[in-house]
Amino acid sequence: MPNTPYLDASVRWKLKSGSIAFREPRTAEVAAQLLDNGLVTEVLGTIGAGKEADVFLARDGNRLVVAKSYRLYRTSNRSRGAVKADGMGHLASREFELLGYAWAHRAPVPEPFQREENAFTMEFVGDGDGPAPQLRRTQLDAPADFARELLRGIDDLAHAGVVHTDLSPFNILVHRGHPVIIDLGKGLRVDRLGASPWIRLSEARTALEHALETLRRYFARYDVPFETEGITAQILRDIDRFGVGTYPE
Ligand SMILES: Nc1ncnc2c1ncn2[C@@H]1O[C@H](COP(=O)(O)OP(=O)(O)OP(=O)(O)O)[C@@H](O)[C@H]1O
Ligand SMILES: [Mg+2]
Repeated sequence: MPNTPYLDASVRWKLKSGSIAFREPRTAEVAAQLLDNGLVTEVLGTIGAGKEADVFLARDGNRLVVAKSYRLYRTSNRSRGAVKADGMGHLASREFELLGYAWAHRAPVPEPFQREENAFTMEFVGDGDGPAPQLRRTQLDAPADFARELLRGIDDLAHAGVVHTDLSPFNILVHRGHPVIIDLGKGLRVDRLGASPWIRLSEARTALEHALETLRRYFARYDVPFETEGITAQILRDIDRFGVGTYPE
């Protein structure tokens, strides 16, 4: 059922005044938008087109950056028009904010640079050969070290008050043998009273357990024990500033 999309006030104004179109822009138009709103000075190419966003390699002055632009609408097979993709504009600001907290706490994430409306720029994770590959596409040389570092990264994120709700070998890049966690758009901010701490903590627990189980299964192929026992409880205890949870040993 078509309904009203979430839009920044500035985007709503542009829609009303007819200066942007009420449909999903094509990739070239998305790239043009990035240039228009001053996020980048040159778009070099596409590096990913996920379900919800287009990801570009670009230049901002003389530094390489990655620009991620969330789509505002999603087309549905069942209805002909564009339908609301719930809170897509909001996802860009959420992801940008969470990256900021994570980066400030030295968690292994790309440094966030700038945001405008539904798009933002961040550090390019990669080198002259291109973007760092996703974990799922990589053969690790030192899987046990990588697993340990990844667990430390998840812990760093939690200390920053961030719990990733979609952590899998798709959203972990392997950069010079080290993990970099990306795609925080649906992450949880666990350190703030947006919702009651009980709800936040139980959501965080579910997300952590799910992520750790997915990763444990991934590392099983290397015969690397991915020690998850007690980790969820320990991380939750760390982020539970209000002392509302119970954590079985
Ligand atoms: N900072 C970055 N540096 C290098 N590559 C990146 C960076 N951010 C994203 N990418 C690449 O772009 C792809 C898509 O990024 P991301 O997962 O954030 O978007 P998405 O739209 O949520 O994708 P999906 O729906 O496939 O999960 C990543 O898998 C990765 O290969
Ligand atoms: Mg992704």
